[in-house]
Amino acid sequence: MTDVPGLLADHAHCELKAAQSALSMVGRFGDEAPDLVEPLSKLAREETAHFRQVCEHLEARSAGIGRPAKDDYVGALRKAARQDGEAPAMLDRLLVSALIEARSCERFQVLAEGVPDAELADFYRGLMAAEARHFSLFRGLAEKHFGAEARRRLDRLAEREAEIAHMLPLGPTVHG
Ligand SMILES: [Fe+2]
Ligand SMILES: [Fe+2]
Repeated sequence: MTDVPGLLADHAHCELKAAQSALSMVGRFGDEAPDLVEPLSKLAREETAHFRQVCEHLEARSAGIGRPAKDDYVGALRKAARQDGEAPAMLDRLLVSALIEARSCERFQVLAEGVPDAELADFYRGLMAAEARHFSLFRGLAEKHFGAEARRRLDRLAEREAEIAHMLPLGPTVHG
């Protein structure tokens, strides 16, 4: 655990992207699936609050959020989903989001155990619980709309995710 500000900066952008992605889903799918509007708007609000909290940890270290790095993990997962080309766009968006949340949850657990700063460890523990909840939210919405197809597709995307995680280099990132 060396580059704490670098990790926090990457994390800040992940929270921001999570909020943006939730809102973009509201805009894209809110008409065909009005039941997405309320939970995903709320989620965006919560991710924005996380973003602010990460910013405070950065400010406490006199560091900024930096420029957004390309997220290879998320990009590769979205691309893999598109290449399969077999599932409805809304299903894949929900499930890719679910997998990102699950991965973040695991990562925060590792960070909570590994970071020497007790305050930061507490922060990561709180986020871990939030990400587990977000995973369930996305998976639940996918199953509500797509039933058994959602479960099959999640298994398939999880396989693709495992291949991707295997190929990507390790760095000070939340998803990597
Ligand atoms: Fe978050
Ligand atoms: Fe989240």
